Amino acid sequence: MNPFIFSTTAQIVYRPGAATAIGDLVKQKLGSRILFVTDPGLRKLGLCDPALASLAASGIETTVFDRVEADPSLATVMAATDAAKADKVSGVIGFGGGSSLDVAKVVALLCGSGEPIDDAWGVGNVKGPRLPLVLVPTTAGTGSEVTPVSIITVGADEKRGISSPVILPDIAVLDPDLTLGLPPHITAATGIDAMVHAIEAYASKSANNNPVSKMFARQALQLLGANIEKAVFDGKDRAARGAMLLGSMLAGQAFANSPVAAVHALAYPIGGTFHIPHGLSNALVLPHVLRFNAPDAASTYAEIAADVFPDLASEQGDQGRCAAFIERLGALSVKLGLQPRLRDVGIGEEHLSGMARDAMKQTRLLVNNPRDVSEADALSIYRAAW
Ligand SMILES: [Fe+2]
Repeated sequence: MNPFIFSTTAQIVYRPGAATAIGDLVKQKLGSRILFVTDPGLRKLGLCDPALASLAASGIETTVFDRVEADPSLATVMAATDAAKADKVSGVIGFGGGSSLDVAKVVALLCGSGEPIDDAWGVGNVKGPRLPLVLVPTTAGTGSEVTPVSIITVGADEKRGISSPVILPDIAVLDPDLTLGLPPHITAATGIDAMVHAIEAYASKSANNNPVSKMFARQALQLLGANIEKAVFDGKDRAARGAMLLGSMLAGQAFANSPVAAVHALAYPIGGTFHIPHGLSNALVLPHVLRFNAPDAASTYAEIAADVFPDLASEQGDQGRCAAFIERLGALSVKLGLQPRLRDVGIGEEHLSGMARDAMKQTRLLVNNPRDVSEADALSIYRAAW
């Protein structure tokens, strides 16, 4: 077995309704004065109110920063950091989708260590320490509560990342009740994103791919596969929502230590240039990238096919099972109401070659792909997806 390192969040709390009692859960770790990072939509919906009430009841003074946008900007990170410093907070809570959690990670770092953000970009450049940090996801998809990564938009559309175990939180609080109101299309797209995390982590060519990630990926795929339709078509199904949130976290633990590959690399230009949500971008290229990878990864995909679709266990032979797996994943996205083709989300054929060029810049992801991808390959994958 190859040597490997597996890092994850120190404490995971899974409990329906946990957000309504979050004050008691976090008081000891975060201290008595905190910054609560969220987005304006959740604030308006009132989803933060029970958590804020619980913090107040526990005697925790809370400054709310509710200006996190999708694809959060450096300006937002710095504004939240200024707010935290002005109030001399002792800890940070990130509450929301991946964007709010990513901002909270960086704010905790910048307030805790005082290091300039320009020294922190990239992999392993963070010094720390950070402030105590608790992350509470309200979507089941990104797994940001267990990943050591934060993605921030610098300038118009340059995405920069900070990757370091230092920004893994102290506590991840999983409360499936927070996801009950997610609309079907967001449930579907974020759920497919989580599945892609597990599939790409399992098949990752990363030197750090490891048996712990593989085990978590398979458990994630079983939970996500068995529950994604229930969660999309009956959002109030508490058991399905809980399984999706847990599956998303397990997939996050898997890919945090065995990184994702070409599905994500080809999804980024779709999201970056056309502002298509991340999960949908992944769904649009998923079957086409897996079909491209199949010559080198059929046996790997065959191993996990029945985790998502149990009836595929009866499919004989790796090639057949892999082909059926890919077909079924494409059909699943359609069934969940996601647009199947790039043209359906308004991308013209003339943009495909530029997207292929952009995708090649994602070298940190492409190196993990089971099959080498050239720019010409990326273009034919986009053509197939168009
Ligand atoms: Fe993703």
